[in-house]
Amino acid sequence: MLTAGIDVGSRTIKVVILKGYDDILGKQVVSTGINSTGRAERVLNGLLQQVNYSRDDLDYIIATGYGRINIAFADEKVTEISCHAAGAYAEFPGARTIIDIGGQDCKVIRLDKEGRVEDFLMNDKCAAGTGRFLEVMAENLEIPLTEIGEVSLQTRKAAAISSTCTVFAESEVVGLVARGVPRAEILRGLHKSIVKRLTGMVYRVGLEEEVVLTGGVCLNSGVRKILGAELDINIKVPQYPQLAGALGAAKLAWLNS
Ligand SMILES: Nc1ncnc2c1ncn2[C@@H]1O[C@H](COP(=O)(O)OP(=O)(O)OP(=O)(O)O)[C@@H](O)[C@H]1O
Ligand SMILES: [Mg+2]
Repeated sequence: MLTAGIDVGSRTIKVVILKGYDDILGKQVVSTGINSTGRAERVLNGLLQQVNYSRDDLDYIIATGYGRINIAFADEKVTEISCHAAGAYAEFPGARTIIDIGGQDCKVIRLDKEGRVEDFLMNDKCAAGTGRFLEVMAENLEIPLTEIGEVSLQTRKAAAISSTCTVFAESEVVGLVARGVPRAEILRGLHKSIVKRLTGMVYRVGLEEEVVLTGGVCLNSGVRKILGAELDINIKVPQYPQLAGALGAAKLAWLNS
């Protein structure tokens, strides 16, 4: 059986094609853009073509993510909470807490032993504590997004960032640069401020190990390490952290078809 999971996030679209429950036939991450429907469909068709299949061969498609409503051709739409839970639990059956840090929101999900969602918390009110916050700061500091995590780990000294709001934090960063504060210290401070918001959410939901980190921000080594140190635990990272929601959607498609 062939299934697909499509996760239309605020920053990226993720598509996973599964053959059976375990075999990933195709996967891709592209930026969301303004025509997410057309882009998701092109990515899906392109991936199918690469492995010599067509749309008729697909048994079931589940769409998830912020923009799932636009994916009219999906057989079913499922919340991000359920899909991230399914994706993380499939790889780590010991997962009890899942932290997803995306471009626009962050979520903390608590699972029971069978992988059912017991509770969750979502911050989607502002960009603070999300990937977009880090993107804005990387641009300000003229350091590639892919490098800011490593740079933040180059020092143990963190510049004080008092604003949680992205716009005010951005002004603070501009001020710190003007005062000659090293960029590593500024980044350490920014990463610590994100982690502080996340740990607050984790403690409200209740920290239970194993803890799995998903979402694009998981590719940032600074967030991974500082969050692990702050929670004083060993955080599990899936093989494809950014694809966890799409993979979970494809697995649920296999179960629901
Ligand atoms: N290579 C990378 N290194 C570091 N950070 C990265 C990398 N690629 C993406 N990111 C971060 O991941 C974020 C996007 O994550 P993701 O793709 O999970 O978001 P999304 O699912 O579109 O958003 P949301 O779930 O909030 O709607 C970016 O904002 C960026 O901060
Ligand atoms: Mg997402």
